[in-house]
Amino acid sequence: MPTNAVALLILSFFIQLLALPQTLAETNIFSEGTKYLYPEILKDEAVTRLIDLGKVSDAHGFLERTFQSPASVRAGNLIQEWMEDAGLRTWLDQMGNVHGRIEGMNPSEKALLIGSHLDTVIDAGMYDGALGIITAISALKVLNITRRIGRLRRPVEVIAFSDEEGVRFQSTFLGSAAIAGVLPVSTLHVQDKSGVTVQGALKINSIDATEENLLQLKYDPKSVWGYIEVHIEQGPVLETAGFPLGVVKGIAGQTRLRVTVKGSQGHAGTVPMKLRQDPMAAAAELIVLLESLCKQPDEYLSYDGQCMDSTVQSLAGSLVCTVGEISTWPSASNVIPGQVTFTIDIRAMDDLGREAIIYEMSNRMYQICDRRSVFCHIDRKHDANAVICDQGLSSDLKSAGYAALKRLTGENPDDVPVLMSGAGHDAMAMSHLTKVAMLFVRCRGGISHSPAEHVSDDDIWAAGVAVLAFIETHIN
Ligand code: GLV
Ligand code: MN
Ligand code: MN
Repeated sequence: MPTNAVALLILSFFIQLLALPQTLAETNIFSEGTKYLYPEILKDEAVTRLIDLGKVSDAHGFLERTFQSPASVRAGNLIQEWMEDAGLRTWLDQMGNVHGRIEGMNPSEKALLIGSHLDTVIDAGMYDGALGIITAISALKVLNITRRIGRLRRPVEVIAFSDEEGVRFQSTFLGSAAIAGVLPVSTLHVQDKSGVTVQGALKINSIDATEENLLQLKYDPKSVWGYIEVHIEQGPVLETAGFPLGVVKGIAGQTRLRVTVKGSQGHAGTVPMKLRQDPMAAAAELIVLLESLCKQPDEYLSYDGQCMDSTVQSLAGSLVCTVGEISTWPSASNVIPGQVTFTIDIRAMDDLGREAIIYEMSNRMYQICDRRSVFCHIDRKHDANAVICDQGLSSDLKSAGYAALKRLTGENPDDVPVLMSGAGHDAMAMSHLTKVAMLFVRCRGGISHSPAEHVSDDDIWAAGVAVLAFIETHIN
């Protein structure tokens, strides 16, 4: 072989060597061990951002971020900065949702939406909602840094929804339901405890939400390919199974009620027990009734066509009922209060069964109130039917979870578990717009809606790698 041909061969060999990391990064960034798993973004930075977001609170000493509160606005700004840092075009919509979008190669193609919520409960953990937003932004940041973001076959949009918990206005999914086009315009006039309306809360933050622009927030179903959401499991199933990730099969339906009990306000020392119309004692009886009914629905529901055998059986497996908030007026130890109000949260996989429970519970509650000579009113504040996740999308998400664990451990993992969700998610609202799927991430001790909520750094990493693997299937 002539010397210049040998030199050319050697030169091309070195050129290939130099190009190798880039080639690997472009084809399968995970195949060469942790070097291409971007721990600095998908783990370290994601964890730091979760901690930073966990400090954005309206309260001192605990985490609280409700719809359009000052902390919610600060959290939204931070998320918007992180979206821009990932190379996304960002905007804030009239329901306070924060969007970050990349058009990819075909801006008119149907978009993949990835989201979760930026609001929290009171005395919350820092992963519920935030985990799904941050893992999505981090995965897109990796694609941006490796210069593959422009090769996406379809637009990808991350949405940080403004309200999933429904703490301030009792009606949940204000943000995602607006995008899905299922938020009644009358919701703008719902009031919080201080009499501020949804519209007023937005206006304080210079967001002009009118009935017309609320209708315009609805995405055209033809412009959307599907929706995925990563979320802390909030239960013990994955931890018990010894698995970091799981795919959600379905999400339980839910109803929220507010019960008002009015009695006769009086002096704790002077009104004889027989003459009392005490709303507090009545409320206690109503709450115990609720617990008994939800523990043993078969003992309360009649099989009279309103409720079938299979419904009762499925209720026994998934029905849960909670009174999470109670208030009395006036509230003092030497006063029989005049009024007690409390909330009821009912969830079940079976929508007909949930309706049957509400029907039975309401009848029995009104009977108790009559017997006690107090006035009762049950106000239905929120309903969401159970959702079954899309099979094809869930199977793709499951493969992404599997690939992530294989790439992280270098071994073939067991099959990714499939589980049900008792908690509500923005995916419920988004299911009215498009097909949905969810990836759950292991939760320490099954504890959530508590500052003790925890996801390990490695599990956050696994979730980030899984989202990246999922998005990669949309790259040319
Ligand atoms: C949200 O966390 C809910 O399930 O209430
Ligand atoms: Mn929650
Ligand atoms: Mn949540």
